[in-house]
Amino acid sequence: MTIAVSTPRQHSPLAEGLRPHRFDWRPSLEAEGQAESPQTRHDFSKEGDPIKGSGAPAISFGSFRLLPSRRLLLDGETPVNLGSRALEILIALVERPGELVGKKELVSRVWPRTHVSEGNLKCQVAALRRALGDGRDGRRYLDTSPGQGYRFVAPVEAENEAVPWQPQPAALTHEHNLPSRTMPLIGRTDVVAKIADRVTRERLLTIVGPAGIGKTSVAVAAAERLIGAYDDGIWQIDLASIADPRLVPTALASALKLTIRSDNPLPSLIAAVKDRQMLLVLDNCEHLIEPAAALAIAILRGSRSIQVLATSREPLDVEGERVHRLSALESPPESIGLNAAEALRFPAVQLFVERATATMNEFELSDNDAPGAAGICRKLDGVPLAIEFAAARVDTFGVRGLAARLDDQMPLLSGGHRLAPPRHRTVSAALDWSYQLLSQEEQTVFRRLAILVGDFTLETAIAVVAGSDRISLDIAFIVESLVMKSLVTANVGDGEVRFRLFETTRAYALTKLAESGESDVLGSNGRQSFPCSERRPSGTELASVV
Ligand SMILES: Nc1ncnc2c1ncn2[C@@H]1O[C@H](COP(=O)(O)OP(=O)(O)OP(=O)(O)O)[C@@H](O)[C@H]1O
Ligand SMILES: [Mg+2]
Repeated sequence: MTIAVSTPRQHSPLAEGLRPHRFDWRPSLEAEGQAESPQTRHDFSKEGDPIKGSGAPAISFGSFRLLPSRRLLLDGETPVNLGSRALEILIALVERPGELVGKKELVSRVWPRTHVSEGNLKCQVAALRRALGDGRDGRRYLDTSPGQGYRFVAPVEAENEAVPWQPQPAALTHEHNLPSRTMPLIGRTDVVAKIADRVTRERLLTIVGPAGIGKTSVAVAAAERLIGAYDDGIWQIDLASIADPRLVPTALASALKLTIRSDNPLPSLIAAVKDRQMLLVLDNCEHLIEPAAALAIAILRGSRSIQVLATSREPLDVEGERVHRLSALESPPESIGLNAAEALRFPAVQLFVERATATMNEFELSDNDAPGAAGICRKLDGVPLAIEFAAARVDTFGVRGLAARLDDQMPLLSGGHRLAPPRHRTVSAALDWSYQLLSQEEQTVFRRLAILVGDFTLETAIAVVAGSDRISLDIAFIVESLVMKSLVTANVGDGEVRFRLFETTRAYALTKLAESGESDVLGSNGRQSFPCSERRPSGTELASVV
């Protein structure tokens, strides 16, 4: 078995306090020798006296010695625990001692290919201050000009003028493999911020929710916020394209550019990454739930500084996992006289309009169409994938035409773009993905639940699903399992749990019920199979079986 680690070393910033720190290098003898070189003193009597190009491979200040070409800061002879971004900030400031270096300049130097907020800069400066002990015991190195930038205010000494010193660009080249976003994420600002925050505190956080609700989109957006926070980067491992469970560790290895030659790669893989500080985005796990869970648990047990953000239609169900159930985009409630401006306050309608505009450049939501658009979003339960498909049909039917036809169109809804994965090309394909993962018993219960319109109690589900053939299944247990798998939603209100299938899911389940030929056992329209209709909770409606 061989593991060749070919990933370039990544350095980081933020989570300084979180990680066990390591150094891959030691100050070399050569560096120590340079300490004996003649030194040129730079005091700050003149503001902006640049040491850039002064020919110094090392710069001293206080008890510190900075070796930019080695990307090393020594306190005496001891390497200082400093992430690469904080180090880059230090180099940028020390290059122009006494000079105000603007925030924008620092941000574009430290994060050259990425758009990041100034909050990240603040965070790095705070880490740098901590590492230097700035402000403690009379030490003063950095000065903040509020709203403008920072300057290095301690005297510096540049060593060895004979060797020209060029500041090195940040050595960060492969810090993440997150896809670049082609379309804006709508209505998820708060949840993305919340997840990004939780990720830094939890070792394993799983975003769970139904097909197409936006788990991957939210996970990627949250991970984007953390770019720069991990020494060894952020790596998305998309399991959707993998069918063979044995290939799950391989998928991780290939994201990390590790070469594995072993029949049992997991232990070696964990050994290779155990000291790394990184975020793994284990995406689309549901169809490989067991190997994904095994990988997650091996990572949690085998490393101290790797965090995992997973997305799945069901939880991984391992020790230490925290789950975030992702809700749908909010749609306008039913109301009379809703106008376009009011409808557009809701993210589901914003998404609908945004996608309709992408296919019809003249599209603009009119007041007349606003109730129709709101109705479509409600009917689609605010599920982004379904809303995208519906919006793609507006050019054929118009908003009101589509609203009127939606019931017939629902399972057929399609419109995924050319590069969308196959399971995102139609609503049916998205749900097939989940349905095929169910056991036969779960499929039976799921199909039969299709006749329950709106929300229902467990008691109702048991009575209806049992049918006239009195199937001997633990229906309560299976309903719970369907909830875990995000095919049924459960809401606790007034102490009573009420279940529901999203309309798109129910329409899909109805087609499966019709195909199964089981409609008879539920009665010609389902009603006859309901043995205790007098106990039927108000609001429980039964659908006709197509
Ligand atoms: N908030 C949003 N704003 C705009 N588009 C969104 C949003 N959420 C999801 N989408 C779009 O909806 C589609 C489905 O999103 P995504 O792949 O994130 O869902 P998912 O929950 O991960 O699906 P699956 O269960 O199949 O893995 C994608 O085309 C995505 O771009
Ligand atoms: Mg996904």
